[in-house]
Amino acid sequence: MKPGILVARAVFPEVLARLAEHFEVESNQEDEIYSQQQLTDRLQGKQGALITGSARINEQVLAAVPGLRMVANMAVGYDNIDTAACERFQVLASNTPDVLNETTADFGWALMMATARRITEAEHWLRAGKWTKWRYDSFIGPDLHDSTLGIIGMGRIGQAIARRSTGFQMQVLYHNRSRLAPELEQAANQAQFVSKEQLLRESDHVILVLPYSAATHHTIAGAELALMKPTATLTNIARGGIVDDQALIQALRNKTIAAAGLDVFENEPALHPDFLDLTNVVLTPHIASASEKTRRAMANCAADNLIAGLSGQRPPNLLTSFPVQA
Ligand code: 8YV
Repeated sequence: MKPGILVARAVFPEVLARLAEHFEVESNQEDEIYSQQQLTDRLQGKQGALITGSARINEQVLAAVPGLRMVANMAVGYDNIDTAACERFQVLASNTPDVLNETTADFGWALMMATARRITEAEHWLRAGKWTKWRYDSFIGPDLHDSTLGIIGMGRIGQAIARRSTGFQMQVLYHNRSRLAPELEQAANQAQFVSKEQLLRESDHVILVLPYSAATHHTIAGAELALMKPTATLTNIARGGIVDDQALIQALRNKTIAAAGLDVFENEPALHPDFLDLTNVVLTPHIASASEKTRRAMANCAADNLIAGLSGQRPPNLLTSFPVQA
């Protein structure tokens, strides 16, 4: 008998077909968003689950589903999974690192450039029929070339963003839990390791690429925004909750920073309604990894992990540390 799994959100049909070769699959191609209770109910009798960031795997879920052996996240960030609880309940957990590094770095640049050069604001204005004449100061904003880029969170995606900055002759500052090895700094456009405060004071464009945890909650709040230059931009492609959205709205409204580009929000997909009234913010619906090739790679990576874990092999991207059992 094949083990039962839940695929908690819609996925590419060919990935579902691959999973069906190994498992009895309950899928959700209707893409219904399950409440915690519905998720727990659907997991009953299942040994594994392929989930996305919208499914929270916590103590309560794990306690209520004793037969569960593995959860495979289709995301590199795994703040939706309580890995310490997974260790206690001996439930394997995995994520999808690396396959999305370059795509996410590309998007970070797209969002940062759209923010600095006011692309969406200008397009909305044009679409509203307001373009009747050219003006010397229409939509002027800060340059990216020859400016200072500040990267908070210098993991694989942060380093991919830094590498792209060489063509723009930018100086790169970074802040991270630990300093990178010299050869990695060199490859990251000779990035300089500095304190968060120095980075915020000196950068023209700040981009956030750090994982969310209790320790990184509100890494950027009122005090941090107050350190930034009034001409600076802030781009967040990491997670909602890393930025205090209310404090950011204040800073954008009072123009104590120039603009922000946001792909992630506190309480997404709901977002603070005041963002919608501001013209100096570019808003996108959590799409940094959304290239066709990368989303397929992420889904296949999550499937590979689940297939390995439930057949007693070590999943390639295992997050838990207890031994994998057949
Ligand atoms: C996902 C992401 O699209 O990988 C991550 O951590 O934020 C995105 O690439 C999203 O989390 C869906 O699970």
